[in-house]
Amino acid sequence: MNHTVNCRHLAYNVLVDVVRQGQSFNSQLITKRYPSLDGRNQAFTTHLCFGVLRHYFVLQTTITFLLDKPLKPKDNDLQLLLMLGLYQLFYTDIPQHAAIHATVDACKRIAPFAKGLINGVLRNALRQEEKIKPLLVANNSHPVWLREYWQKYWPADWQAIIQANQQHPPFVLRVNRRKTNRTDYLTMLEAAHIPAQNINLCDEGILIADDVPIQSLPNFQEGWVSVQDSSAQLAANLLKLAPGQRVLDACAAPGGKTAHMLELEPLLEVVAIEKDPTRVALLQSTLDRLQLTANIYCADASNPDSWWDKALFDRILLDAPCSATGVIRRHPDIKLHRKPSDLKQLTKTQNTLLSQLWPLLKPGGILLYATCSTLAAENVEQISQFLATQANALELPIDAKWGIPQSVGRQILPGQDGMDGFYYARLMKCA
Ligand SMILES: C[S@@+](CC[C@H](N)C(=O)[O-])C[C@H]1O[C@@H](n2cnc3c(N)ncnc32)[C@H](O)[C@@H]1O
Repeated sequence: MNHTVNCRHLAYNVLVDVVRQGQSFNSQLITKRYPSLDGRNQAFTTHLCFGVLRHYFVLQTTITFLLDKPLKPKDNDLQLLLMLGLYQLFYTDIPQHAAIHATVDACKRIAPFAKGLINGVLRNALRQEEKIKPLLVANNSHPVWLREYWQKYWPADWQAIIQANQQHPPFVLRVNRRKTNRTDYLTMLEAAHIPAQNINLCDEGILIADDVPIQSLPNFQEGWVSVQDSSAQLAANLLKLAPGQRVLDACAAPGGKTAHMLELEPLLEVVAIEKDPTRVALLQSTLDRLQLTANIYCADASNPDSWWDKALFDRILLDAPCSATGVIRRHPDIKLHRKPSDLKQLTKTQNTLLSQLWPLLKPGGILLYATCSTLAAENVEQISQFLATQANALELPIDAKWGIPQSVGRQILPGQDGMDGFYYARLMKCA
């Protein structure tokens, strides 16, 4: 029995969890499954999983092309091993013989009877390279329903959306104003030999040139910076915060936006609601590291009777649960997990949250609705419908240099100005 680490084998196990068991993919999944794996192997396993998930649909098409007949249902998971092999052959500079040898070695550990098949299909793929290359186009890298949705709603941009989703995402920091400022922190990064630059569209944003472990960022543990995409950093400023305001963060975990609000305006009273107990722990640890305080409730925001003390809010941030189709470059498994039928439930939940939280806003107060979605049903259509039914709600337009103005709100498409896809609409309650 061979006990040396084979990252293809580890990646295969993780992919089975994600693709077959429906688990969400993130690097913690690998850390949790293999806690004693060294950093290098952990990084390589993560890279393999990301690669397969990012190119899942084209790899599937390629396998169909290569196999004379489909795999037997009981051998379906072998498709994931073939995907790992093909990903290495066509998307990485791993030497071909090493990619095939290591993938066949993984097969010996997983399903020894299939090593001839895996070896044969991968070698055949190399022979058929010229025919395979045209199949590997980005336009085929998403489920058809999603591509068609974008083609309908973003006829001029759908290809750019797809291209952006296939890219490695940028590593963006938010500087904690309570501890430092961008200029000083950039100097610290330079001293630590971490190349970085300002992001112009958000006041606290810094772009790190190459991924580095967060522990190597100066004073990370002390709360001087947080990791947050620039599109998410826009929320706090849109709320027009002022000292003494009472703010509701209705869907708060893991707390990126809660923390940003408190960093910008220390004299806020923030009530942060999160339904999922595990995510409440994340929210708490975000605030602990940054030495910030909010009144946290583990509750359903759409049922205010269970947590609300009847004092109205000056500001409400509703960062609603959504399809997350704006952050596919960070979470490529969304392409596999999200189904068109999910939209009905998601839009219903968003609508319920909006209508249940609106009465909690003071007259003259502002509600900021946000999603990391690119789908009109969750964004402009959702808010237009809400405005049509609420006599005392009006749009407070967002005048900005980013995003695409919609009939209500602004949409950032993935990759625009380097950002994750996001939608923001700002609503005000009439007196
Ligand atoms: C988009 S995430 C929020 C991200 C967060 N605002 C940030 O910036 O870090 C949405 C969160 O809302 C939570 N959630 C979903 N439905 C909820 C509800 N009815 N009440 C409270 N939290 C909810 C989810 O568990 C998830 O953590």
